[in-house]
Amino acid sequence: MRYVVTGAAGFIGSQLGDALAAAGHEVVGVDSFTDYYDPAEKEENAAALDVSRADLAETALDLDGVDGVFHLAAQAGVRSFGDVFPLYVRRNVLATQRVLEAAAAAKVRVVLASSSSVYGEAEAYPTPEDSVPRPISPYGITKLACEHLARAYALGFGLDAVVLRYFTVYGPRQRPDMFFRRVCEALLAGTTFEIYGSGEQSRSFTYVGDAVEATIAAMERAPAGAVYNVGGGEEASMLEAIALLERIAGRSLETRRLDAARGDVARTKADVSRIRDALGWSPRTSLEDGLTAMWSWASGRVAADEA
Ligand code: UGA
Repeated sequence: MRYVVTGAAGFIGSQLGDALAAAGHEVVGVDSFTDYYDPAEKEENAAALDVSRADLAETALDLDGVDGVFHLAAQAGVRSFGDVFPLYVRRNVLATQRVLEAAAAAKVRVVLASSSSVYGEAEAYPTPEDSVPRPISPYGITKLACEHLARAYALGFGLDAVVLRYFTVYGPRQRPDMFFRRVCEALLAGTTFEIYGSGEQSRSFTYVGDAVEATIAAMERAPAGAVYNVGGGEEASMLEAIALLERIAGRSLETRRLDAARGDVARTKADVSRIRDALGWSPRTSLEDGLTAMWSWASGRVAADEA
């Protein structure tokens, strides 16, 4: 198959692109290489892929001969109040609207990357997909807007769209602003790690390889209009996760507490029964195995930089 992957130089997008290529598919990568983090790192992520540079808020996707679009391009990060808000509107809502227009016109399926952050402080844990979404961050609000746009294009124009709500994905190539990446780097550099809030907040951490499998299964087998949680099986607090990573690294982490970050939820815990029943997907990678892989990647990168 010939698939477009937007955000192909990002964390999940590049892992997805590599997995699709390894499975024999043709991958057409698109990315705008924004400077949210070092674009050189994005070049590194996408080294094995053919990625063209385009801003989806301005450039229409060419979907001639394409069998499906994985729309992962986004302005990520839940700590999204303040001056950065226009970037979230542009890179999430505006860009997604243009992707959906193109996909509806070309009659091509879109798998849309959404987020656990649409739930906000969720109604119930584990959280099923039909919980009322009440996002508490501008990021989560823009992601929910993208979901609603997909539904509106499905109703109005027959768009075939599947929505995936990823829960805090981690593993090799994780973005440098995210928790595990920063913990790994602080352990490697011997610097102090800053914990936002008590550290008792918890997440359904999801290993990137598992998230990629769910994403491909959604393109291949999900019914049109489906919405699925893609969440890891083991919930852990930040303090528990730090302890596990310290054990894997054989080092101890110096920490400092800061105020809780606005927009951060206290807890996420995915109910994955819907995707398990529909697609046969469940998370397979334990937090320990996933963090071992991530530590090995992060320490390898530092060693390569020092060499
Ligand atoms: C992550 C991603 O950043 C979002 O793009 C994604 O959509 C979201 O998951 C999701 O699942 O919906 P988050 O859960 O905040 O958001 O992931 P991390 O950045 O890894 O943070 C996890 C926790 O660690 C948060 O409570 C955060 O406050 C804390 N943290 C993070 C720190 O204590 N210190 C840091 O330096 C970074």
